Amino acid sequence: MKKLSSTEIREKFLEYFEKNDHLKIKPASIVPENDPTLLFINSGMAPLKNYFLGREVPPSPRLANFQPCIRTKDIDDVGDRHHLTIFEMMGSWSIGDYYKERACELAYNLLVKELGFPAERLYFTVYGGNEAIGIKPDFESVEAWKKCGVPEDHIVMLGDDNFWGPAGDTGPCGPCTEVFFDCGPEYGPEYKPGGHFDDVSRYIEIWNAGVFMELNKNKDGSFDPLPLKSVDTGSGLERLAMVMGGHDSVYDTDLLKPLVDLSRELIKTDDVATNRMLSDHMRATVMILAEGVMPSNEGQGYIPRRLIRKCVAACISRGVSHPDFTKHVDKTIEILGDNYPQLKSAREAILYNLSQEVDEFVPTVRNGLEMIASELQTNKKSNELFPGKIAFELVTTHGLPLEVIKAELKSKKIPFDEKGFEECYEEHRKTSRVISRKGSTSEDQAKVEEAFLSEENTEFTGYDKTKDLSTVVKTYSSDGQTIYFSTFKTPFYGESGGQAGDIGYATTSNGKVEIIDTIKIKGTHVHVGHVIEGKLEEGDQVELVVDEKNRKASMRNHTATHLLHSALHKVIGTHAIQKGSSVSADRLRFDFQNPGAVTKDELEKVELLVNSWIMSNNSKTTDLCGYEEAIEKGAMALFGEKYDSEVRVVSFGPESVELCGGTHVNATGDIGLFLITAESSVAKGVRRIEAVTGEKAILLMQERAKFLRDASEELKVKPEEVATKIKELRIEMKNKIKEAKENAGSASLEKEIKLEVSGVKFFAGVTSGDPNDLKAMGDDLINRGEYQLICLTGKDDKSVKAFVWSNDSLNKKVKAGDALKNILEVIGGRGGGKPQFAQGGSPEVAKLPDLVKYLESDFQAWLSTKI
Ligand code: ALA
Repeated sequence: MKKLSSTEIREKFLEYFEKNDHLKIKPASIVPENDPTLLFINSGMAPLKNYFLGREVPPSPRLANFQPCIRTKDIDDVGDRHHLTIFEMMGSWSIGDYYKERACELAYNLLVKELGFPAERLYFTVYGGNEAIGIKPDFESVEAWKKCGVPEDHIVMLGDDNFWGPAGDTGPCGPCTEVFFDCGPEYGPEYKPGGHFDDVSRYIEIWNAGVFMELNKNKDGSFDPLPLKSVDTGSGLERLAMVMGGHDSVYDTDLLKPLVDLSRELIKTDDVATNRMLSDHMRATVMILAEGVMPSNEGQGYIPRRLIRKCVAACISRGVSHPDFTKHVDKTIEILGDNYPQLKSAREAILYNLSQEVDEFVPTVRNGLEMIASELQTNKKSNELFPGKIAFELVTTHGLPLEVIKAELKSKKIPFDEKGFEECYEEHRKTSRVISRKGSTSEDQAKVEEAFLSEENTEFTGYDKTKDLSTVVKTYSSDGQTIYFSTFKTPFYGESGGQAGDIGYATTSNGKVEIIDTIKIKGTHVHVGHVIEGKLEEGDQVELVVDEKNRKASMRNHTATHLLHSALHKVIGTHAIQKGSSVSADRLRFDFQNPGAVTKDELEKVELLVNSWIMSNNSKTTDLCGYEEAIEKGAMALFGEKYDSEVRVVSFGPESVELCGGTHVNATGDIGLFLITAESSVAKGVRRIEAVTGEKAILLMQERAKFLRDASEELKVKPEEVATKIKELRIEMKNKIKEAKENAGSASLEKEIKLEVSGVKFFAGVTSGDPNDLKAMGDDLINRGEYQLICLTGKDDKSVKAFVWSNDSLNKKVKAGDALKNILEVIGGRGGGKPQFAQGGSPEVAKLPDLVKYLESDFQAWLSTKI
C-alpha cells in the first residue's frame, strides 16, 4: 500500500474521479443552506439533496468533492481510535447516470489499483434486505464485487447497517455497500462466512462505496421511489489516512497528530482520551466558528459551546486554570487552511469568540469543581454514589454541564447517581415544559418558491443598466392581486446579500405592472407586482424599467456598507466581523461582533474614515475570479455566506475589497455623505450601526443644523456655545430646585431670641413661613442638643401658632406644656401637650409682637422660678 500524506490522498481521490469524467465541485459550508432537517451538514450528499430529488439539475451527472461533515451524535464517543466530531468526507456521485456495477468497479480500482490496497485485506458488506419494508437483498452488488475479483468469503451480507440515510428525518436514501479494511489479527478474530463480522475493532470501514439512492423517505416513515437512480459514495479522509499510514488511530495521522501533541503540551499528561478529545473538539470548534456561528445556548451555536466548555473543564480539572487554545486554532488553520481558505480570514473572529467563551466559562467550572470537591469532603464515604440531586443543582443553578460533572467524578473514581439525576430532570421537565417554535415560512412563500424553483437562472443585466427588454418566462399568482413573474433577463436586482430588491415598472403591449419588489429564488429573479393596466402573460415581450432614484440610493448604501465594514475593522479591530446587513434605498444597517457598545469616540472615527474614503472618490473595480484566489488577495468574505466557485470581487481602492453580488456606485464620491444615526445592541456580543447616505444624509445634516440654529437663537448664544449654555442652565435650574425645596421644607426665621437662665439655654424663634413647618425645625434643633428649651412661633391669616420643646434633662422641672401655657396666656391663646413637647395657638394674629416681646423679657422671670 502506498504511503501517502492526507493531502496526497485527497488529491489522488479527486484526480481519479476527474479522470473518470466526474466534475470536481467545491465543498459546501457545514452550515446547511435552506435545509431545516439538518443542524449541520452530516454527509457529502446533504448539500446535493435537490439533485437526487430531481428538483435541481446538477452541473454534471458525475460529481466528486471533499466535504467537512459534523456528526454531533459522535461527540461523546470521541477519544477512541476513530470517532471524530468533524471529519472530511471524500465523495463521488452519479446522479441518474451509472449505477451499482460501475460504482463498485470505480471503488475497487481506486483502492486496489491506484492506492495499492492489498485486496486480501479488503472486505465488502452488502445489504441483506428487509422484508418489513419490502426491500430485497442486494445481489446486484454482490455480483458487481465478484466481477471485480472479490472472493465470496470477503463479501458480507448485513442488515440495516447497510441501508443508508436519509441525511435528516426525510429525504433520499437506499441500500449501500461498504468497504472495510482488515487491521490484522492483533485487533480481534478473523471473519469467517456465517460468523460475526467485527466492524468496530478489527475491520474498519474505509468507504461507503455506494448508497444506491432510489428511495425517498417521507415524514410518516413510508418510502416513495425517487425520479432518478443515483449513487452516493463517501469515504472518511481521516480513516483512509489512518489505515494507509499503518496507524492505530485517526489521531496518529498528519491531520490530527500535531493537535494531539499540542494538547499534551497544554495539559501535561499522557491521558490519551483527553488529548484526543481536546484535539477533536478544538478542530471542530475552529471549523464551526469560521462559518460565523457563535457559541450560544441553542441551535447550531450550542455545539461549539458544548465543545469549548468540555475542553475548558478538562483543562481546569487538570490544573490549567485558564486555558489558552490559540495554538490549537493556529495549528488547525495551518493543517486545513489551504483547503478551507475561510479559516485563514476568520482567524481573528475565531480567536475572539473562543476566548469570550473560555473567559465566560472558566469561573463556572472553577466554582462547580470546588462545589463537587466540598460535597465529596462532607460526605466522605468514597463508594457512595454522588447524589443526582446535587448534580442536578450544579447543572441548573450553577451552569455546570453534566458531562463535566461526570468526567470529574470519573477521574476521581466516584460513582454517580444517574437515576437520581434523571428523576430530578424528569420532574423539572414536567413542571417547566416550554414549547419553542421556530419561525416558519409562510405557506404562500413556499408556494412561490416551488413555482420558480426549477426555472432557469435569470441573466442579470442590472450591473450596467436600469432598463432592458425581455420575454416573460413564467407567471404565478395565488390571489389574482399580486403577480410574480420571471423573465429571461432583467435589470431588476433580486433581494440578496442584504440588498433589497429593485422596484419599478414592467410594460408589455397588453398591460403594465408596478413592480414593488424583486426576490431571488435560487438563480431566478422573480418580480413581484400589481397589474395596473391590462394583463401580463407568459411569452409576452416586456420592457423592464427600474426606479433609478431608488436603485441609486440603494447602491450608495450598499457601497457605504462595505466602507463601514472596513472602517470598523480599522478602528475597533478585525474581530468586528459582519453578522448581518440590510441595505435599502432609505438606510443601511450593519450588524457586527463586538462585546460592548462602540464608544462615541470610535463612532466619530469610523464616520470620519468612511467620509474620507468617500472624498478620495475611489473608482469601483469588479473582478470575476475563483473563490480561493479572491480570498488569497485579501477580499473580505462573509462568514456563513455561500459563494459560488466563481465569485465577484468588488473593490473601491485598497480600502475596501469584498466578495459581493450586489450593485454599487461607480466611485465612492457618488455616496456624497455618510452619517451614522444609531448604535445599538442586537444580541449578546452583536452591535448594530445604522446610517444614511446621499440625499438622506444631506437632509439629516440640514435638519440637525436647523435644530442647532433654533436652539442657539432661543438661548441667545453662538451655536458652539449651545452645549455650555445648556449645561449652565441645567446647573442653575438644579440649584434653584434645591433652594426651593429647602425653602419649602423649612420656614426661615425672622427673629431669634437666645437666653440663658441658671445654665439652661433657651431659644425662641419667630418665623414668617408656614407655621406647619415649625415642627420639623424644632425637632431638629432640640435633637442637636444645644438648647434645653425651645419655643417656635409663627402665624398665618387666621392664627398664631406656638410650639415648645423641653429636652430630657429639663422636662421634669419645666414641662413643655406649662411653658407653652405661660407663653400663650399673653395673647389669650391655649394649648397643651406632653412634658417633652406641646403645641397651641391663638386667633389673635395681631398680637404676635406682644408675644415676642414677652419672650424677650418677662418669660425669663417665669423660667427662673421653675429651675
Ligand atoms: N452518504 C453516505 C455516507 O455518509 C455516503 O456514508
